[in-house]
Amino acid sequence: MSALPQSAARPGPLELAFRRIRDADLEAVAAIERRVYAFPWTVGNFRDALLSGYRFWGCWRVGVDRDELIGYAILMLAVDEAHLLNIAVDAHCQGRGFGRRMLKFIIDDARAKECAMLFLEVRPSNTVAQALYADVGFTQHGLRKAYYPARQGREDALFLGLEL
Ligand SMILES: CC(C)(COP(=O)(O)OP(=O)(O)OC[C@H]1O[C@@H](n2cnc3c(N)ncnc32)[C@H](O)[C@@H]1OP(=O)(O)O)[C@@H](O)C(=O)NCCC(=O)NCCS
Repeated sequence: MSALPQSAARPGPLELAFRRIRDADLEAVAAIERRVYAFPWTVGNFRDALLSGYRFWGCWRVGVDRDELIGYAILMLAVDEAHLLNIAVDAHCQGRGFGRRMLKFIIDDARAKECAMLFLEVRPSNTVAQALYADVGFTQHGLRKAYYPARQGREDALFLGLEL
């Protein structure tokens, strides 16, 4: 793997920078994951995503002394379809528009790779994420029964899609 970021972009005002996640970032990614999900992916899960060649993006808040990783998103491409496997904003940064900007970046990335559709799964109980997805135009394409682990039994997933 290259020692340099494979790609970089600074959308809009300077405060956020998107760069590809590297092995050295995985502990920080997993720490965010544990803070925001009841059933978090492990470092091993994230390493597998890297090794699989998925488009694994980190979002950094640009600082004077150092940049702070505040979120990440993982995009899997299959022919002309993209699948958003994970998107998260660190707990102390949520509700400030960063998730919307990350999602817009991911949509632009999928479009740049000439994907026609972007799909994702979301828990019915995750009303915050659902509000964001509905607002950018995602609609329901199906229901995956007992898809997620839950406190009791399993939880279904809403299968959402966005025409690009
Ligand atoms: C879902 C997530 C990525 C959204 O990121 P965020 O930075 O918190 O969201 P934003 O501040 O950009 O808000 C985007 C929209 O989400 C919705 N939203 C955000 N916070 C909300 C809240 N507390 N209550 C209801 N809706 C909310 C709103 O529709 C909001 O749009 P608006 O600001 O125009 O009203 C983030 O909350 C997160 O990481 N959650 C935990 C992990 C997760 O659930 N990931 C998605 C798995 S499918």
